[in-house]
Amino acid sequence: MSEIEERVKEIRDQAIDKIRRAEALGSLNEIRVGILGKKGTLTQVMKMMRDVPKEEKPMVGKWVNEARQEIEAQLAESRERLEAAAMNDRLKNEAIDVTLPAKKINVGHRHPNSIALEEVERIFTGMGYEVMEGPEIEYDEYNFTKLNIPPNHPAKDEQDTFYITDDILLRTQTSPIQARVMEQGKVPIRMIAPGRVFRSDEVDATHSPSFHQIEGLVIDKGITFADLKGTLDIFAKKMFGEDTKTKFRPHHFPFTEPSAEMDVSCFKCGGKGCRFCKGEGWIEILGCGMVHPHVLEMCGLDPNEYGGFAFGVGLERIALLKYEIDDMRLLYENDVRFLSQF
Ligand code: DAH
Repeated sequence: MSEIEERVKEIRDQAIDKIRRAEALGSLNEIRVGILGKKGTLTQVMKMMRDVPKEEKPMVGKWVNEARQEIEAQLAESRERLEAAAMNDRLKNEAIDVTLPAKKINVGHRHPNSIALEEVERIFTGMGYEVMEGPEIEYDEYNFTKLNIPPNHPAKDEQDTFYITDDILLRTQTSPIQARVMEQGKVPIRMIAPGRVFRSDEVDATHSPSFHQIEGLVIDKGITFADLKGTLDIFAKKMFGEDTKTKFRPHHFPFTEPSAEMDVSCFKCGGKGCRFCKGEGWIEILGCGMVHPHVLEMCGLDPNEYGGFAFGVGLERIALLKYEIDDMRLLYENDVRFLSQF
C-alpha cells in the first residue's frame, strides 16, 4: 500500500470515528471544516497530487473521493441523529401540561359612575334625547356670563373655581353645554350632556374637587313647567323604582326662572324616614327650571318664540344613592374589592 493510500485511510478512519462520537451539531461542523475545509486534512492530500506520478493520479483521486463520500455520508447520518436528539430535548422541555388548571384572567369591572351614567343615558335616549358633550376647559363667558351670571355676581363665589387665566377656567358645571348647544341654533333641542366638572373643594365624604354632572336641556315652542315635571318624574321612577314620588321645591338658579330642586321619596323607607334619608323621607337629587329668557336671548334664540326647561344632576350623587355607598371617596380609590361589588 502506498504512503498516500495509507494517509487517506488514516484520515478517513479518524474522521469517521470523530464524527460518530460528536455530541453537538456545532462540533460536527468544526470536524467537517477540519477535514474537508480549505485547510482540511483531506484537502491537503489533494494538494499533494502535484508530486504524484502521472499514472498514479487517477488512483489517488479515486481514494480521496471515496474517503470524502464516506465522510460526508457519516456526517449526514450524525447530523440527523443529533438533530433528532435536539428536537426530542425541546419537546421534552417545552411540553405543556394541558391538565394543569389555567391561570385566571382578571377582567376589569365597570365603575358605579359608569353603570349609573349608562342607566341615565338609556332612560333619556329612550325619550328621544341626544347625548352631547362640551369642553372641560371652558371660557368664563360660557361657564358664567351666558348663563346669566355676570362678572361680580355673588353666584360665582358659590362655585370656587379653578381659573387658568382671567377668561379661561375648568368648568364648574355642565350648564355651559346648554349655551353651546343653543348657540348652534338647531331647534328643537332635546339633549343630555354628561361630563366632569371641577370645584376647588376639599375632599371629604360628600365633596371632591372633581366630580360629574349630567345636564339636560329641552327647547321647543310651547314647553311648560308641566313638561319639566312629567319628564323628571318619569326619570325618577325609571331610575329609583316605579313607586318613587317626586317633589319640587322652589329654588334659585340664575339661568332658570322659575327654578326648583327635585326630591325623590326615599326608596329605602318609602318616605317614612330612616337613617338613609336622615329621617326626612325625601332625598334631594337635582336642580331644574325653565330656561331664563335672558339666557335664550344671549344664546341667539327668540324668547317670544322658543322656551324650554333644563336640569342638572350630580352623577356621583345618583351612584351613591343607587348603590347605597356612604362615602364618595370610595368612588375615586379604584379599589377592585370595592368596584367588583356592583
Ligand atoms: N349647574 C347647577 C349646579 O351645578 C345645576 C343645575 C341647576 C343645572 C338647575 C341646571 C338647572 O340645568 O336648570 O349647581
